[in-house]
Amino acid sequence: MASDMRKVLIIGAGGIGRRHIKGYLETGRATLSVVEPDEAKRAAIASEFALAAAYSDLESANLTAFDLAVICTPANHHVPIMEACATAKLPFLVEKPLAVSLNGVDAAITLVERAGILARVGYIRRIAPEVRQLRSQIADGKIGTLKLAYLNSSQEFPKYRPDYRSTYYSRPEMGGGAILDAASHSFDMLISIMGEPVTVGAMYDRLALEGSETEDTCLISILFANGTMANLTINQFQKRNVARAEFIGTAGNLKLDHATLNFTDDDSGHWSESRDFMEGMVPMQAHQARFTIQANTMLDALDGKPDPLATLQEARTNLALALAAKRSWIEKRFIDLAEVS
Ligand SMILES: NC(=O)c1ccc[n+]([C@@H]2O[C@H](COP(=O)([O-])OP(=O)(O)OC[C@H]3O[C@@H](n4cnc5c(N)ncnc54)[C@H](O)[C@@H]3O)[C@@H](O)[C@H]2O)c1
Repeated sequence: MASDMRKVLIIGAGGIGRRHIKGYLETGRATLSVVEPDEAKRAAIASEFALAAAYSDLESANLTAFDLAVICTPANHHVPIMEACATAKLPFLVEKPLAVSLNGVDAAITLVERAGILARVGYIRRIAPEVRQLRSQIADGKIGTLKLAYLNSSQEFPKYRPDYRSTYYSRPEMGGGAILDAASHSFDMLISIMGEPVTVGAMYDRLALEGSETEDTCLISILFANGTMANLTINQFQKRNVARAEFIGTAGNLKLDHATLNFTDDDSGHWSESRDFMEGMVPMQAHQARFTIQANTMLDALDGKPDPLATLQEARTNLALALAAKRSWIEKRFIDLAEVS
């Protein structure tokens, strides 16, 4: 085994933990261990993948012996595990959302900053080639001055997570639902392109999914500090799988439709440029491939290379936006983010 293999600890081997395990193994640059309290899952993972070790709890793993942790537990566990990593000076990638409330978040971020360790958040679309292209074309002024964004991310969630009733998804206090779980990805795209959100107004409800205590639908309007505005629609029950993000500038439109990036600067009704970045892959293959890109990006970042991944501060802003959106509908008014921060 090569001596420069990094020792990676996957904490939580559920749905997303498996994607990270496959992603890091695919890099050929890491040896993997897992922490998974569920005995049956732990045994299944240990028999399916070549692991250095499998622990039943975090306390049994010597965190100082690892090079990187990937925190894949439900979001209500993220803050204490980030703190344990900071105390052991163990760099980490934590899954989104950063937490389920702002309680303890700033203290954890301060601890990480004082430890001086690399810490990133798993907003997977950051490293998707089509999203990077979208960001750079907007930054290069291809659509003039960016003013507006319309996003719609809607699909039949139970088809992809048939076990949703028994996971964090159905529980608001564990980070589930259309806002904290799904909209959080769209928020990250908007924050990375449009900057600091300042005001939000939302409606949401559970319109169709049975056996869940969380909202499956949300309609959200956001104002950013630079004066740009965005509108985001999500439902998690419709049959058709829609993933659209259109960015509108003074000189043209860029529209991401799944992995196809379209551009036009006229009213002909046709896109003048269109490129499918999936290159013949089926959507789930493309999705898994992103986890390998993300794993390579984290391993490169450990070596000191620059990376485009979300920082803890950006994820904190994202969480504040989600919490403000929820409060907006409860109080039936627009909420300034300063009110929840
Ligand atoms: N980036 C993405 O596209 C994406 C997709 C799905 C989920 N997620 C995020 O990943 C996280 C986990 O989601 P999931 O779908 O894998 O959930 P899951 O319920 O399938 O898996 C979570 C696992 O964590 C384990 N766990 C719970 N407490 C633990 C602890 N203290 N220490 C170690 N393991 C513990 C559970 O036993 C379970 O196996 C959530 O924050 C979720 O929002 C991200």
